[in-house]
Amino acid sequence: MEDSFEVIIISFLKNKIGLSNDFLGALLSKQLQENLLALLLEKQLKVAGIGQKSSLVENKLIRNDLIYWLDRKHNDLHENTFFDFMDRFVQYLNETCYTGITSYEFHYAFYDKGSFYKKHLDQFKNNNSRVYSMIMYLNEDWQVGDGGELCVYPLGEPQIISPLNGKCVFFKSNELEHEVLLSHQPRMSITGWLKSDA
Ligand code: OGA
Ligand code: NI
Repeated sequence: MEDSFEVIIISFLKNKIGLSNDFLGALLSKQLQENLLALLLEKQLKVAGIGQKSSLVENKLIRNDLIYWLDRKHNDLHENTFFDFMDRFVQYLNETCYTGITSYEFHYAFYDKGSFYKKHLDQFKNNNSRVYSMIMYLNEDWQVGDGGELCVYPLGEPQIISPLNGKCVFFKSNELEHEVLLSHQPRMSITGWLKSDA
């Protein structure tokens, strides 16, 4: 496990975009993907907002994915395994990089065919508690041509990242603009933020 923590932290320090191709491991990824699909069938996923006062119509021009927040209070075995995993990651990050992360929040995200999320920053205007953004993809058999790439804009060339199963992306929430390109297939992920109260 520490190996995948190292991989993502070292690539982040080098390139401002941390990447690991196998972060959560195959088993947990599969279990979380099954949870997401079950929640989708139960109609538990809801239209995601954009953090400002905006109409649903305006909102849907910017993003049109569906989300569901994970919570230990759900007492779901796999969600809790995920939180245990993230607790270890945050501890490792704080110990090795003195990052001072004190909390986090994560949601499942489902992009149906035809969904996208236009270019944005993950930090809200009046609240800088989100320090790092993390996205973990849960898409088996993702093909070239399925779209749905994450496009991150560090200075210079945009970097295009396919939402392949097991991949995790990690970057500073207030620094890197990014967008989700039009997806031609249902696209699943867990997205979240590591936060600091300071
Ligand atoms: C977000 C986001 C990227 C992705 O939810 O803020 O930018 O690849 N997601 O799903
Ligand atoms: Ni984002």
